[in-house]
Amino acid sequence: MKHWITALLIATQLSAIPAYSIEVEETKVPSANSHGMKKKVDELMSQMTFEEKIGQMNLLSIGFDVTGPVVSQDVDQKIKKGLVGGVFNTFTPAAVRKLQEIAVNQSRLKIPLLFGYDVIHGHRTIFPINLGLSCSWDPELIERTAQAAAKEASADGLNWVYSPMVDIARDPRWGRVSEGSGEDPHLGSEIARATVRGYQGKNHDNADTVLACVKHYALYGAAEAGRDYNTVDMSPVRMFNEYLPPYKAAVDAGVATVMTSFNEINGVPATANKWLVTDVLRKDWGFKGMIATDYTAVNEMVAHGVGDEAKVTELAINAGIDMDMVGELFIKHGAVLVKSGKVSEAQIDAACRRVLEAKYKLGLFHDPYRFISEERRKKELMSADKLQLSKEAAIKSMVLLKNAKQVLPLSTQQKVAFIGPLVKDQRNLIGAWSGAGDWKQATSIWQALDTKFGAGKFLYSKGCNILDDDRMIELLNLNGAMLQRDEKSPQDLIKEAVATAQQADVVVAVLGEPFIFSGEAASRSMIGLPDNQLDLLKALKATGKPVVLVLMNGRPLTLPWENENLDAILETWFGGTKAGDAIVDTLFGDATPSGKLSITFPVNVGQIPIYYNAKNTGRPFVPREKFHTQYLDVSNQPLYPFGYGLSYTTFEYDEPKLSQSTMRSAETITVSTRVKNTGKRAGVETVQFYIRDLVGSITRPVKELKHFQKVELKPGEEKVVEYKLTVDDLKFYNSDLKYAAEPGDFEVFCGTDSSNLKKAKFTLM
Ligand code: NOJ
Repeated sequence: MKHWITALLIATQLSAIPAYSIEVEETKVPSANSHGMKKKVDELMSQMTFEEKIGQMNLLSIGFDVTGPVVSQDVDQKIKKGLVGGVFNTFTPAAVRKLQEIAVNQSRLKIPLLFGYDVIHGHRTIFPINLGLSCSWDPELIERTAQAAAKEASADGLNWVYSPMVDIARDPRWGRVSEGSGEDPHLGSEIARATVRGYQGKNHDNADTVLACVKHYALYGAAEAGRDYNTVDMSPVRMFNEYLPPYKAAVDAGVATVMTSFNEINGVPATANKWLVTDVLRKDWGFKGMIATDYTAVNEMVAHGVGDEAKVTELAINAGIDMDMVGELFIKHGAVLVKSGKVSEAQIDAACRRVLEAKYKLGLFHDPYRFISEERRKKELMSADKLQLSKEAAIKSMVLLKNAKQVLPLSTQQKVAFIGPLVKDQRNLIGAWSGAGDWKQATSIWQALDTKFGAGKFLYSKGCNILDDDRMIELLNLNGAMLQRDEKSPQDLIKEAVATAQQADVVVAVLGEPFIFSGEAASRSMIGLPDNQLDLLKALKATGKPVVLVLMNGRPLTLPWENENLDAILETWFGGTKAGDAIVDTLFGDATPSGKLSITFPVNVGQIPIYYNAKNTGRPFVPREKFHTQYLDVSNQPLYPFGYGLSYTTFEYDEPKLSQSTMRSAETITVSTRVKNTGKRAGVETVQFYIRDLVGSITRPVKELKHFQKVELKPGEEKVVEYKLTVDDLKFYNSDLKYAAEPGDFEVFCGTDSSNLKKAKFTLM
């Protein structure tokens, strides 16, 4: 609580800072590849004291947000002494200028600061949560959202964003599944690349790009039991084939910085993991940029049990970490560690150099104020094009999970009752980790209905509170959930809703999770709708009216009753600033859902972890037979598989055709399939291609996504979709961690989702 108050005080002080009128002219920044960078950094380092070098490795938090139990103190003084390399949680040109001026005018060597921030799914204009965005299966769209976020962030004084988060997650209990791109390494890698391209652009010539930071390196999403920060224990083969690819994809795309993760991996915390940080990331993958820890992650290694403060500092620096986020142990213990020979001076020099290089690449030595422009801020923040993009992204992220008897889209001729605590809600729409987003600027469903159709056209009833559990409400409100129980009793709320439903032709229930059920330290052990919401749904169902469930949530939910009993289910995630407009357009058919799940929805928690690219086991499932892999009380199948998502139209696939049935490693096989729109409306289908390696030196998954392509089809239209499969698609890391394809038989599948596929066979010679 104390920390929140401190943070608030700092925020208040910052917002009181007067805006400066000096504008900095845009001039061309020297190329980072030029001789210039080395020369500048050498020159600076030759003048730096040891303390100043370690100072560059110190990353402090000052300003609006706190994401850990510690708050940085006396930041101004430390900046003056040259003991700070960068800060985060401060933005707006005025606030950034104030700190940058201290660094540039009052510190001995005038080294400018980095300004970082958690720009996760948009900065001021908020896009759908990342899990939602990933369901668009549209890297080009995602690149545009990152580009828009970079424009806003850089116009707000920032030059470094802590994104993309690319942790593969197969456990929906983990609250941070909402921040990533789901369970699949191929889709996750495509999205990682696109996001890095979006944030960083081609170079930093224009000050509207920022440094990206891929996180959390590594395997943070594999926390045991989905409990945040928990232990990760994983075979190297699994790491390399299933969890590491998206981090590597970000590195290959040129990501400038990396953040290590809180978790341990096979007994060694990631932040002390020399093998992971230096051997894999720097040496094998050739990463040349800067590596920061997560929030106080160095200090937290004391609790992990790998040493006292001095020891964990030694471990982190020697692992190859360049910046210590908030913990300040590098500046506390660095000098003694070097004196005693436990850390070499060369290690400190290398880290300091990488921090300075990041600043050079941003052009900060050329102009420390180049990200500070009130004029750009006015132009970029929440501009019309970005709001339009927010709506487009929300539409493309929605996944239609069920649509019995084509109850959707709705017609304006019908009398529609909108029921639920999220119909008029704005706060939850922008989700958790919505950076500098302002929920008051988000459009609720109810506002969108008014705008589109004029006020008073629809029936409304609140129906229930988002949550009724007092203990939970109190806990969540401590962290800013803003949850309030209605004055009316739950019974009265339901009674009213039933009366409203009875007057309607169709009921749209808007339900889900409060935003604060997602994000950091927000794991759940049960992942259904809260009981009071389910009670409401049951009462609505009992009216006999068709019920459409519109969901807002940050993770896969268990929805067996809902799937069985309701007529339609539209998953909208937390859709961002323009979510309301996007949902209304989709409900009434001005937009057609095209999203596909990037993560499996289990039937119940007992099935977790459940993911599509599983192994076969020696006793694959056989119905009604014992001694085969199965549960007695639930099917092995998920409720909704990876890749699943309906449209308002239907698509039909042919068997895949192969250009040849054998392949040498230098050859390509063209896999093609004819896809036809067999419904009455135009629609977009994501055609998915998977392979299976039938025999390997190690066991291989029953399916692996290798390619996907979007195709837009008018009613009755058909197109042939082609994919050129190469030997690279068949490679995997074997037990020696050698990346190679093994000759033998393969299956190739195509279809509409991971459990609805047609197949062909070929042989790699
Ligand atoms: C902790 C989170 O794990 C990380 O994602 C975030 O970037 C940092 N805090 C900074 O806020």
